[in-house]
Amino acid sequence: MKYEIIPSMLSVEKDVQKYTDLLKHQVDSIHIDVMDGIFVEGKSFPVDEVVKINTDLRMIVHLMTVDPQHLVPDYALAGADTIIFHIEATKDPASVIRLIKDEDCRAGISLKPGTPLERIKPFIKDVDIVLVMAVEPGRGGQEIISEMILRIKELRDIAPDLDIMVDGGINIKTIHAVKQAGANKFVVGTGIFIAHDPVKAIELLREEIAN
Ligand code: DX5
Ligand code: ZN
Repeated sequence: MKYEIIPSMLSVEKDVQKYTDLLKHQVDSIHIDVMDGIFVEGKSFPVDEVVKINTDLRMIVHLMTVDPQHLVPDYALAGADTIIFHIEATKDPASVIRLIKDEDCRAGISLKPGTPLERIKPFIKDVDIVLVMAVEPGRGGQEIISEMILRIKELRDIAPDLDIMVDGGINIKTIHAVKQAGANKFVVGTGIFIAHDPVKAIELLREEIAN
């Protein structure tokens, strides 16, 4: 199982290029939170900002938007490697997954903490990644909802080889528990960018999951 720490650029949106460059030798991917002001209150990373990011790192686009199918082609064109959408945001998850794959991107599905895990089970076999939201989507800096650790464990038990990404409230104190539960991709926002030295913060997070 490949473990990966993935910086969430939401808290540094205005300086995304600077921080992407800073971390280019530390990580393989960056996590881009797209908010439309409808699915969640805030707005972030419109496609014309994402297209300007100049990097060899993989861009993992997390669509916190209604009607994701309308946005998939644009974000694919903007350079997304992976596009993750929310099960709550569409009536037809299967066709969104197909659309993402037709755009030659990896497909991920996500669910809010209050959405039963049952809802995504039919789609697990068709996606590359499941993104477990460990906080309510919409903003960084929240505390992990501890029940989500059990959710990760349940998911790992039914899908031993799946890439399980966890997003929200991951930091030096919580990362070990979510790794033990079975997550292998860790999205970290404020846990990296609140630090004086984001490079060092990533090293410390890596040490936490090394054992
Ligand atoms: C929350 C976003 C996250 C957020 C994580 O809605 O999806 O990616 O940036 O931030 P932290 O790590 O601070 O919880
Ligand atoms: Zn996210």
